[in-house]
Amino acid sequence: MMRLLLTIAAAATCALPQALAVAPSDTWRDADIGQSSYLGGGHNMDPAVVDSERFTQLWNASFGAAEKFYAKPLAYTPKSTGKQVVFLASTENIIRTLDAETGELVKERQVADPQPADVSYCTSVADNIGIIGTPTIDPETDIAYFYAKSYIPEFRLENQTTAVLNGVYYFFAVDINTLEDIEGFPIMVDGIPADNDPRKVFIGGTILQRPSLVQIGDTVFAGFGGLCDQFNYTGTILGVNIKSKKVVTNFATQSGPDSSFTLDWTAWHEGGAGGVWQSGMGLSSDGESLFFVTDNGDTSLNHTPPAPGTSQLDLLSESAVKLHVSPDGAVRLADYFQPHDYLEDGGLDLGSGGIALLPPHGFNTAKYPNLAAVAGKTGKIHILAQSDLGGYGNGPDGTDAAVQVIPPQPRPDGGSFSNGIYGAVGAYPLPNDDGEGPGGYIYAAAVAQEVVAYEFKEQGEDDNGEFEFVLAGKSVEKNLDRPGVGIPTITTAVDEETGAEKKDSGIVWLMDPEAGLRAWHAVPGDDGVLKSIELPSIEGTNKYQRPVFGNGRVYVIDARGVLVCLGTVE
Ligand SMILES: *[C@@H]1O[C@H](CO)[C@@H](O)[C@H](O)[C@H]1NC(C)=O
Ligand SMILES: *[C@@H]1O[C@H](CO)[C@@H](O)[C@H](O)[C@H]1NC(C)=O
Ligand SMILES: *[C@@H]1O[C@H](CO)[C@@H](O)[C@H](O)[C@H]1NC(C)=O
Repeated sequence: MMRLLLTIAAAATCALPQALAVAPSDTWRDADIGQSSYLGGGHNMDPAVVDSERFTQLWNASFGAAEKFYAKPLAYTPKSTGKQVVFLASTENIIRTLDAETGELVKERQVADPQPADVSYCTSVADNIGIIGTPTIDPETDIAYFYAKSYIPEFRLENQTTAVLNGVYYFFAVDINTLEDIEGFPIMVDGIPADNDPRKVFIGGTILQRPSLVQIGDTVFAGFGGLCDQFNYTGTILGVNIKSKKVVTNFATQSGPDSSFTLDWTAWHEGGAGGVWQSGMGLSSDGESLFFVTDNGDTSLNHTPPAPGTSQLDLLSESAVKLHVSPDGAVRLADYFQPHDYLEDGGLDLGSGGIALLPPHGFNTAKYPNLAAVAGKTGKIHILAQSDLGGYGNGPDGTDAAVQVIPPQPRPDGGSFSNGIYGAVGAYPLPNDDGEGPGGYIYAAAVAQEVVAYEFKEQGEDDNGEFEFVLAGKSVEKNLDRPGVGIPTITTAVDEETGAEKKDSGIVWLMDPEAGLRAWHAVPGDDGVLKSIELPSIEGTNKYQRPVFGNGRVYVIDARGVLVCLGTVE
């Protein structure tokens, strides 16, 4: 109650323009918990305003030359102040809050020395590797959680300071108001044996925390994968219980006697790999289970299809994985999907994206109440049932038991990456044409392709529970012809009187490393064209980003690391 009063008071004083004068809104984690990228009407991004000259740059802020931002900004209104801040975390391990209205710096702190990238031959990421994964803020407590990479001189190697094996990860919990540590944090997560394979010791120096964090109950989960693909790493999920302040989960994606293992930390991929990087996309959850996708790892044990997804699989390579999470944060494998052609498609990994759990009110039938979408470097979009991901080769003739496989767009001449998807589809749930049943669109942004919209259509008259996503529209603009485009992210606006979502208010937003921020009206025209929305220009962006919304404003970081705030002034 307290929080509500304070935030309303804040809104009243900041003179929001009429069209955006609804309740304040925050983005305290990377998009929605299910990673559907549908953000709903709460941010009230009305196309009538966004697609007008009133929508402009409000302010911008620059930071250190060496700093890069892989972690997406967050916009959050702390309970104690009722004043919205933008929370940033950089590769230099510098965290900051800025006044969301003015861009003025509120607090700044370097939480630890970042590890130099050259020791791991990974300078393509940044000069130094600190915070990479997007933090998550707990709105109950005003605490932000994130992982920071650092090093301890002579930790494992005598007479050496920043060497790979002296690299460590810390799990931080900071008060968003002061940016000071919460008592009992940070926790050093280094040196911990995997729960499912104690030989495999978590060594922070050889691994990278890339996907956005997700909090499920009292446990914050993070995914780890390769550091420019070096060393003997294994893909790992760590879970920290924020009450007990302990690591409660260390799940290796490659475990057991059939998985690669070596004490030679320099051996390339000899730890099994199977990283969880997802182009930085967040781990997904339905509030109970944890979903993620693994990269290429050890050769599958699934030599002869079919294998049910509920069977144990130690080598979770190129797999969409569902872990059951117990209340204390411990996990066990519940289900998986592994494309039958994943080996043939060598180098065309599934793990370049995560899992989008599609909002059930738009995308469901009696037979499939909860759907998910997984894409990857092949450009195929696999539509899966959340309750039965499909295992390996359970379809006809040993093919996929996916509910639908949307084929990739034809590959244009040129780059081998063309038509690969990095991240996932974005979803826009809508009522169907009758205004009653489920419906809506999913959007894919493949390399070198147009943004493509597929419409959800129930099949047949007899309510048999079947459906199909059918091609409904494309943008005129094409995405960058190399990996780096982010995930299509969907906002709407609500009617102030009724609180209902305004018809045709959907906007698809997309960040492109060269084109910067782009947006389209989300419902394709009858001509099959996604009509673009003209926006203030943004000079490119880092790879795999998405815009962040709060209180009618949009936050993006451009290619030079400048934080830009867009919105309207009256
Ligand atoms: C930041 O704002 C200043 C002052 O309004 C403007 O001159 C500059 O072009 C802006 N920078 C970017 C990257 O938009
Ligand atoms: C570390 O330095 C000391 C002093 O120079 C030397 O005696 C020792 O051999 C060195 N250790 C290693 C592993 O190089
Ligand atoms: C990699 O090597 C280190 C150092 O010997 C070892 O502790 C770790 O368990 C190895 N990891 C894997 C996955 O092989």
